[in-house]
Amino acid sequence: TRDKKVITCRAAVAWEVGKPLSIEEVEVSPPKAREVRVKLVATGICRTDDHVLRGALEGIDFPVILGHEGAGIVESVGEEVTDLKPGDKVVPLCIPQCGKCSSCLSPKTNCCLKTHLRESQNVMPDKTTRFTCRGKAVHHFLWTSTFSEYTVIPEDAIAKIDDGAPMDKACLFGCGFSTGYGAALNTAKVDPGSCCAVFGLGGIGLSTVLGCKAAGASRIIGIDINKGKFKKAREFGATECINPHDYTKPIQEVLIEMTGGEGVDYSFECVGNVDTMKAALEACHLGYGVSVIVGEAPSAAQLSFSPLLLFTGRTWKGSIFGGWKSKDSVPKLVADYMAKKIDVDGLVTHTFPFEEINQGFEVLRSGKSIRSILMF
Ligand code: APR
Ligand code: ZN
Ligand code: ZN
Repeated sequence: TRDKKVITCRAAVAWEVGKPLSIEEVEVSPPKAREVRVKLVATGICRTDDHVLRGALEGIDFPVILGHEGAGIVESVGEEVTDLKPGDKVVPLCIPQCGKCSSCLSPKTNCCLKTHLRESQNVMPDKTTRFTCRGKAVHHFLWTSTFSEYTVIPEDAIAKIDDGAPMDKACLFGCGFSTGYGAALNTAKVDPGSCCAVFGLGGIGLSTVLGCKAAGASRIIGIDINKGKFKKAREFGATECINPHDYTKPIQEVLIEMTGGEGVDYSFECVGNVDTMKAALEACHLGYGVSVIVGEAPSAAQLSFSPLLLFTGRTWKGSIFGGWKSKDSVPKLVADYMAKKIDVDGLVTHTFPFEEINQGFEVLRSGKSIRSILMF
């Protein structure tokens, strides 16, 4: 009784680097074994989608349907799918959780070996795509491709969420919120009373501020070159906000002075820039400071720094998807949101109908938005 129809629908296709997205009619094939076809209800726009459009990330094949922060409803399931059924509310997962690989079996990491870092997610696990447009195969992105009315996702990369969850907020749990919040709670394990510095106050940085606050940090210093981000950062829990452009000395020295010559207990880089990564490391406390890289640098980026910074006891860590084991954790985070233990509403600054996706990218690039939500 399974529905095996090809669905024709709208999607925003990225034909090549540097071009605006184009709203096209695409064909979406039925899900194969262990795959699920989802009707998207809402999707956020993340800076990573923009990095791809600017050509900053390697290993992406065009044409492609981007988008990795979505929420939708299962339309149909392929063979052997046991944990999902049509009608279920779901969030696609840009970091899968296969549950079987050495990383999934280890409590030390959430970085499943099926991520795009190890194996291309420009195609489905069987190496073919489910999208065509104007007779051409169109690639997937991170196995999520949420900039389409319908998408097909491997079951390892999809989480079932509460039936009552509002979709225009649930999508934020697919990337931005979870990434920042978890970086503070899971990766840094911020302790009560500590002093934190968050570089970059976009959606990821603000979510990191929320995580620091939830962990009981007593000082949270927000750093951004756009002072327009400060008001919201304070509402989210930043106790002070500083702009590197207001100082002649390097920002790490400013932070060290602000902390009585000591440096911060925890620093977070939520920009994706190697200079701020280095500044964040240098700004943390000799002997025990922990610096976490949350922003994604361009694929070709390289970094040089003094090894003495680490020799003297600082720790440098990276955090992908906030350290959350995705399939297990996203439903719990959404449940916490519904129980009013977490508030993500303030992250949404703009809402557009799906067709106006390029406008959403426009407000991201101009620094006006935190998160734009597109409604299908
Ligand atoms: N110092 C401090 N802040 C900076 C600097 C800098 N040198 N350069 C840029 N910023 C600020 C921007 O003004 C902006 O407010 O960093 C913030 C980045 O926010 P967004 O562009 O909204 O990006 P976001 O979605 O939060 O993602 C941040 O994480 O996942 C990655 O790819 C993503 O690399 C990106 C990063
Ligand atoms: Zn993202
Ligand atoms: Zn795995």
